[in-house]
Amino acid sequence: MKLIIINGPNLNLLGKREPEIYGSDTFEDVFKSLQTKFPTLELSYYQSNIEGEIIDKLHEVGFDYDGIILNAAAYTHTSIGIGDAVKGVETPVVEVHISNVHAREEFRHTSYIAPNAKGVLFGFGIKGYELAIESFL
Ligand code: DQA
Repeated sequence: MKLIIINGPNLNLLGKREPEIYGSDTFEDVFKSLQTKFPTLELSYYQSNIEGEIIDKLHEVGFDYDGIILNAAAYTHTSIGIGDAVKGVETPVVEVHISNVHAREEFRHTSYIAPNAKGVLFGFGIKGYELAIESFL
Protein backbone atom coordinates (compact mmCIF):
# COMPACT_ATOMS: atom_id res chain seq x y z
CA MET A 1 0.00 0.00 0.00
CA LYS A 2 1.30 3.38 -1.08
CA LEU A 3 0.61 6.31 1.25
CA ILE A 4 2.00 9.84 1.30
CA ILE A 5 2.04 12.42 4.07
CA ILE A 6 1.86 15.98 2.74
CA ASN A 7 2.61 18.79 5.18
CA GLY A 8 1.94 22.42 4.42
CA PRO A 9 3.45 25.73 5.49
CA ASN A 10 5.60 26.11 8.60
CA LEU A 11 5.44 22.40 9.41
CA ASN A 12 9.11 22.18 8.41
CA LEU A 13 9.66 24.02 11.71
CA LEU A 14 8.11 21.26 13.83
CA GLY A 15 10.20 20.77 16.95
CA LYS A 16 11.13 24.46 17.05
CA ARG A 17 7.82 26.13 16.32
CA GLU A 18 5.47 26.83 19.25
CA PRO A 19 6.40 23.54 20.99
CA GLU A 20 3.64 24.09 23.58
CA ILE A 21 1.14 23.59 20.72
CA TYR A 22 2.96 21.38 18.23
CA GLY A 23 5.35 19.41 20.47
CA SER A 24 9.12 19.12 20.39
CA ASP A 25 9.60 16.32 17.83
CA THR A 26 10.88 17.16 14.38
CA PHE A 27 8.85 15.68 11.54
CA GLU A 28 11.92 13.78 10.36
CA ASP A 29 11.90 11.91 13.73
CA VAL A 30 8.15 11.35 13.51
CA PHE A 31 8.48 10.03 9.96
CA LYS A 32 11.27 7.62 10.93
CA SER A 33 9.17 6.19 13.75
CA LEU A 34 6.19 5.80 11.39
CA GLN A 35 8.41 3.89 8.94
CA THR A 36 9.46 1.62 11.82
CA LYS A 37 5.86 1.11 12.96
CA PHE A 38 4.56 0.35 9.45
CA PRO A 39 7.44 -1.48 7.73
CA THR A 40 5.28 -3.07 5.04
CA LEU A 41 3.85 0.22 3.78
CA GLU A 42 5.36 2.31 1.02
CA LEU A 43 5.31 5.52 3.00
CA SER A 44 6.57 8.83 1.65
CA TYR A 45 6.66 12.38 2.89
CA TYR A 46 6.48 15.79 1.21
CA GLN A 47 6.51 19.27 2.73
CA SER A 48 6.09 22.63 1.08
CA ASN A 49 5.46 26.18 2.17
CA ILE A 50 4.05 27.00 -1.28
CA GLU A 51 0.35 26.53 -2.09
CA GLY A 52 0.85 25.69 -5.78
CA GLU A 53 3.49 23.08 -4.96
CA ILE A 54 1.05 21.33 -2.65
CA ILE A 55 -1.57 21.36 -5.43
CA ASP A 56 1.00 19.97 -7.91
CA LYS A 57 1.90 17.17 -5.47
CA LEU A 58 -1.79 16.29 -4.98
CA HIS A 59 -2.16 16.04 -8.78
CA GLU A 60 1.01 13.95 -9.07
CA VAL A 61 0.05 11.33 -6.46
CA GLY A 62 -3.73 11.62 -6.52
CA PHE A 63 -4.46 9.08 -9.28
CA ASP A 64 -1.89 6.51 -8.26
CA TYR A 65 -1.44 6.31 -4.48
CA ASP A 66 -3.79 4.46 -2.12
CA GLY A 67 -4.05 7.30 0.38
CA ILE A 68 -3.00 10.85 1.12
CA ILE A 69 -2.58 12.22 4.64
CA LEU A 70 -2.75 15.97 4.36
CA ASN A 71 -1.94 18.59 6.96
CA ALA A 72 -2.30 21.70 4.81
CA ALA A 73 -1.63 23.79 7.95
CA ALA A 74 -2.75 27.42 7.50
CA TYR A 75 -3.81 26.77 3.88
CA THR A 76 -6.56 24.54 5.27
CA HIS A 77 -8.41 27.67 6.32
CA THR A 78 -7.79 29.75 3.20
CA SER A 79 -7.13 27.67 0.10
CA ILE A 80 -10.01 27.00 -2.26
CA GLY A 81 -7.33 25.76 -4.68
CA ILE A 82 -6.14 22.97 -2.37
CA GLY A 83 -9.77 22.15 -1.53
CA ASP A 84 -10.55 21.84 -5.25
CA ALA A 85 -7.48 19.64 -5.79
CA VAL A 86 -8.61 17.31 -2.99
CA LYS A 87 -12.02 17.13 -4.69
CA GLY A 88 -10.47 16.59 -8.13
CA VAL A 89 -8.18 13.65 -7.38
CA GLU A 90 -9.23 10.01 -6.98
CA THR A 91 -7.04 9.02 -4.03
CA PRO A 92 -8.82 9.42 -0.68
CA VAL A 93 -7.45 12.18 1.53
CA VAL A 94 -7.42 12.17 5.34
CA GLU A 95 -7.04 15.64 6.80
CA VAL A 96 -4.84 15.87 9.90
CA HIS A 97 -4.10 18.67 12.36
CA ILE A 98 -1.76 18.29 15.28
CA SER A 99 -3.66 20.77 17.45
CA ASN A 100 -7.35 20.90 18.25
CA VAL A 101 -8.18 23.59 15.71
CA HIS A 102 -11.71 23.91 17.11
CA ALA A 103 -10.34 24.94 20.51
CA ARG A 104 -8.31 27.74 18.89
CA GLU A 105 -9.05 30.97 17.03
CA GLU A 106 -12.28 31.15 15.03
CA PHE A 107 -10.44 31.38 11.69
CA ARG A 108 -9.05 27.87 12.30
CA HIS A 109 -12.57 26.43 12.49
CA THR A 110 -13.02 26.64 8.70
CA SER A 111 -11.60 23.94 6.45
CA TYR A 112 -11.72 23.98 2.64
CA ILE A 113 -10.47 20.38 2.70
CA ALA A 114 -12.88 18.67 5.10
CA PRO A 115 -15.94 18.64 2.77
CA ASN A 116 -14.04 16.39 0.36
CA ALA A 117 -11.90 14.45 2.82
CA LYS A 118 -12.42 10.80 3.71
CA GLY A 119 -12.10 11.88 7.34
CA VAL A 120 -10.55 14.47 9.61
CA LEU A 121 -8.33 13.96 12.66
CA PHE A 122 -7.34 16.82 14.92
CA GLY A 123 -6.20 17.39 18.50
CA PHE A 124 -4.26 14.15 18.99
CA GLY A 125 -0.86 15.78 18.63
CA ILE A 126 1.69 14.14 16.40
CA LYS A 127 -0.10 10.79 16.97
CA GLY A 128 -2.74 12.02 14.52
CA TYR A 129 -0.45 10.99 11.63
CA GLU A 130 -0.29 7.40 12.93
CA LEU A 131 -4.08 7.32 13.41
CA ALA A 132 -4.51 8.59 9.87
CA ILE A 133 -2.29 5.81 8.50
CA GLU A 134 -4.30 3.25 10.49
CA SER A 135 -7.51 4.60 8.95
CA PHE A 136 -6.26 3.29 5.57
CA LEU A 137 -5.46 -0.23 6.86
C1 DQA B 1 -2.23 22.99 12.06
C2 DQA B 1 -3.32 23.96 12.51
C3 DQA B 1 -3.38 25.18 11.59
O1 DQA B 1 -4.40 26.06 12.03
C4 DQA B 1 -2.06 25.91 11.66
O2 DQA B 1 -2.08 27.01 10.76
C5 DQA B 1 -0.89 25.03 11.41
C6 DQA B 1 -0.88 23.67 11.95
C7 DQA B 1 -2.07 21.79 13.02
O3 DQA B 1 -1.47 20.81 12.62
O4 DQA B 1 -2.53 21.86 14.17
O5 DQA B 1 0.11 25.45 10.84
O6 DQA B 1 -2.58 22.46 10.79
